[in-house]
Amino acid sequence: MENQFIIKGGTPLNGEVVVGGAKNSALGIIAAAIMTDETVTIDNLPDVRDINVLLEAIEDIGATVIRENEHRVKINGSTINDITIAYDAIKKIRASYYLLGALLGKYKRANVALPGGCDIGSRPIDQHLKGFRALGATANVEFGMVNTYAVDLIGSHIYLDVVSVGATINIMLAACLAKGRTVIENAAKEPHIVDVANFLNSMGANIKGAGTDKIRINGVFKLHASEYSIVPDMIEAGTFMVAAAATKGDVLIKNVIPKHLEAISVKLIEIGAKVEEYDDAVRVYSDKRLGHTQIKTLPYPGFPTDMQPQIATLLALSEGTSTVTESIFENRFKYVDELARMGSTIKVEGNVAIIEGVAGFTGAAITAPDLRAGAALVIAGLVANGFTTVDSIKYIERGYENFEKKLTGLGASIEKIPVDDEEAVQKFKLKCS
Ligand code: EPZ
Repeated sequence: MENQFIIKGGTPLNGEVVVGGAKNSALGIIAAAIMTDETVTIDNLPDVRDINVLLEAIEDIGATVIRENEHRVKINGSTINDITIAYDAIKKIRASYYLLGALLGKYKRANVALPGGCDIGSRPIDQHLKGFRALGATANVEFGMVNTYAVDLIGSHIYLDVVSVGATINIMLAACLAKGRTVIENAAKEPHIVDVANFLNSMGANIKGAGTDKIRINGVFKLHASEYSIVPDMIEAGTFMVAAAATKGDVLIKNVIPKHLEAISVKLIEIGAKVEEYDDAVRVYSDKRLGHTQIKTLPYPGFPTDMQPQIATLLALSEGTSTVTESIFENRFKYVDELARMGSTIKVEGNVAIIEGVAGFTGAAITAPDLRAGAALVIAGLVANGFTTVDSIKYIERGYENFEKKLTGLGASIEKIPVDDEEAVQKFKLKCS
C-alpha cells in the first residue's frame, strides 16, 4: 500500500531534533564490512530503505547479518558463497555497486548488474571501471552485468576524470587489498569518503589522505574485525536547517559535525537566517522573510548537490531573484514543476534555475520525484497556506528515517497516511482545524 504525507502548513518548527548516521557513508561501510572473514559491528546505522536493501543484498550472497537493533548490525563475510549481485538488488539501490570493489578486492572477481539510470541523471560508472582496470582487473559489461576479474590486483596511480564519490569509494575498496601502493588523484573529499577510509583503517587497511583530492592506499594482506560508528548525516542535518529557516522557526539540530555543514550555514547566514554552532549541534532560527543569493552545487566542500532542491525551495520563498546552478547532475530540477503548483515562480534554463521569490505558497497535491526533492517538497508543504499531500514518499524514506515523526516532534502538522484514504484525510483535517 502506497503511503503519502499530508501536511497542514504554517507552523514554525521549534525544538530539538537528533540527526542519524550518514546513509551515503553507511552504504560504503556495509560493502567494506564483507571484506574480512571476521565479525564487524556497525553502530549508528540509519534505519532507512537503502541500508536495509544493501544488507539484504549481502545476505543474498551468503554474508551473515545480525541486526541487533534498527541502528546496530553485526556482519561476517566468511560465509559468502557467491560473487554475483543480480539486477533486482541494483534496481532497488545503485549503491549495490560498492560490492564490485569489495568483492573484487577480497575474491579478485565480482559480477554486479549495471545500475540503471536514476531520477536525477544518467550516472555512468566509467570511472569505477577505469580504476579497476588500472589495478589490473578486467572489467567488461555483458548482458547488463559488470564482470570483473583479476589474477592479482596491483597498486596503481589513478587520475579520476571527474570528481566521483562512488568511484573514489569503489576504487578504495578494491585497492586496500591490492599488492603495493595505489594513489587516487582528483578524489572526492566528502565526509563520507573519510568515514569509509577510517572504517577500513579500523579493519587494518592502510589509507592516507582521505578527505583530500589525493588518497594514498598501501595494500595489506587481509582485514580484521572492527567495531565502528557511522558519521552523522550532513544532508539530513542540512535538510532540517533549511526547514527551520523556511518555517521561521528555531531548531537545535543535534548530533552533527558543524564543519561538514559550513557551505549550508554560510548561505543561510548570507540570506539573513541565524546559525549558531556548538560542538555537536547547530541552532538555526529566523523570524523574517529571507533574502536572495546565488548557489552553485560543487563537490565537497562546495555547496552539496544533495541540498540543492531544499535550498531552492527556501529561495523560492525569499525576497528577490536567486539562481541555483546544478553542476553535478543533469536532471535535478524535476521538483520545480511540483513547486509551481504551489505558487512558486522558477524558470529552469539548462542547469540553472532562475528563482523569483514569492511571499508564500498555497497547499496542493504534489509528488516526490526523487529522494532530496521529496524532502524539499515536504518543506514547501510545511510553509504553505492550507493542506498539502506529498505522494511517492517511498523515495523520501530511502534516506530519511522517521522523517514525519521528527517533524511532528518539532511542532509540524504532518502525518503518513495511505494514498486515497479519504477518511484519513478528513480525520487529519478535522484534527488540524
Ligand atoms: C553519490 O552519488 C551520492 N550517492 C549522491 O547522493 C550524491 O548526490 C553524489 O554522490 C554527489 O555527492 C551515494 O553516495 C549512494 P558521483 P554518486 O559519482 O557516487 C559523474 C542522495 O541523495 N560520474 O560523485 O553516484 C556523475 O554522472 C544521492 O543520497 C561519471 O561521469 O555520485 C555525476 O555527474 C543522490 N562517471 C558526477 O560524476 C563515473 O564513473 C558525480 O557523481 C561516476 C560519476
